[in-house]
Amino acid sequence: MEIVLYPHPVLRWKSSPVTRITPQLKRWVKEMFDLMYAAKGIGLAANQVGLPFRFFVMNPTGDPAEKNEELVLINPEITIPSDPEPQEGEEGCLSLPEVFGPVMRPQHVIVEAYDLTGRSVQYRLLELAARVAQHETDHLDGILFFDRMIEEQRKLLRPKLAEFEERFRQRREAGEIESDEEIRRRLESMVAEMAHS
Ligand code: CO
Repeated sequence: MEIVLYPHPVLRWKSSPVTRITPQLKRWVKEMFDLMYAAKGIGLAANQVGLPFRFFVMNPTGDPAEKNEELVLINPEITIPSDPEPQEGEEGCLSLPEVFGPVMRPQHVIVEAYDLTGRSVQYRLLELAARVAQHETDHLDGILFFDRMIEEQRKLLRPKLAEFEERFRQRREAGEIESDEEIRRRLESMVAEMAHS
């Protein structure tokens, strides 16, 4: 398992719901926390490691010792209470190292999901935790943080995004990355396998 970089097509994949909590899923979650901490991240969505399923892990402290701050959110649904003012915050992404930009998001959300025991959970998240949960849920819908930036700001990221695109093209040319068709087939077969397990 490794973190895929923009513009890998799995980052634009609309994730399929998790239908069962399996030992496999628990292993994925553990590996994702390890990768997230190693990369100094605070959230990681399943499609960022090439898994076409709706779940993500987060720990807004980024500190592996703060186990109480870890959340595993399976099939998350976010609702935004009517009151919160959107707040601007600087975001980055493990699939776009060294790229940062300002994103407006509600500073308070309710997230409903399932945890790793299959129990339904509901959390009221504030500020950074709310931002992470929204950023990661966006990933599961194939949305990247710069999609949510205003055009004027997004323009400033163009040269960096173009560098990632060029590197991706070269890696694919070198045979290090599958074709779009191969990726699609592999993800679809994983979804079918989960459905039949
Ligand atoms: Co991200």
